[in-house]
Amino acid sequence: MHKSYGVNEIREMYLKFFESKGHLRLPSFSLIPQNDASLLLINSGMAPMKPYFTGETEPPRKRVCTCQKCIRTGDIENIGKTERHGTYFEMLGNFSFGDYFKKEAIAWCWEFLTSPEWLGLEADRLYPSIYLDDEESFEIWNQDIHIAPERIFRFGKADNFWEHGSGPCGPCSEVYYDRGPEYGCGKPDCTVGCDCDRYIEIWNNVFSQFNNDGQGNYTDLIQKNIDVGAGLERIACVSQNVDSLFDVDTVMNITCLLNTSPSPRDLSTYSMPSSA
Ligand code: GLY
Repeated sequence: MHKSYGVNEIREMYLKFFESKGHLRLPSFSLIPQNDASLLLINSGMAPMKPYFTGETEPPRKRVCTCQKCIRTGDIENIGKTERHGTYFEMLGNFSFGDYFKKEAIAWCWEFLTSPEWLGLEADRLYPSIYLDDEESFEIWNQDIHIAPERIFRFGKADNFWEHGSGPCGPCSEVYYDRGPEYGCGKPDCTVGCDCDRYIEIWNNVFSQFNNDGQGNYTDLIQKNIDVGAGLERIACVSQNVDSLFDVDTVMNITCLLNTSPSPRDLSTYSMPSSA
């Protein structure tokens, strides 16, 4: 069984790991997009950095890592129905702006997730996925990381091509963690990619190499980039072996506090501050 880490420990561990790989740590950007009319709210680590991906603006360094505050409105219908979707979450991200590409991104993803010096998750519970005909990623997972071909899943555009409206986008390679049959739907064909909460996606390596003009027209970006999105609370959920995002340590600190606060009857005796 792997070691359990708190949300705050995982955030710091991840940022330290990518600093050790030459990344510049930046603070989270605001949840309110700046100069981007395509988004109401920041929905991913890459969103505030679109001009670095397109080459329009020079980044402070070609390798950057962040832990970005996110609200992903596209998932809103799933919230409360699954154990893995939340309104607000933090997204760990390591980014390459025309620097390293698939080989390094996949190797570092695996090292962080499985090395006992870092997160130390069990390799035999992890399954990578690739975009349909992305043979380059298949070779890396199979030849460099030594994952057997039958453990590498191929998915189409709906699952393994990352884009949100207009802007930088590309095929991706995700990593799923198997939480065990007790979290499954029990259907005979339940496997990686099933809609239930057994195989939970914890990491997304996006090979950001195209620009979508918002009308579905794709052009090559001037450089090949890496855009990683790894949900902090999802990683904490599997590290801590808890049932859902709402059971991780930092959320429990709040909900336990609320559960022990005065009941609504008691609250009625409180005088509300008058509005200004
Ligand atoms: N930008 C990659 C992700 O959010 O999954």
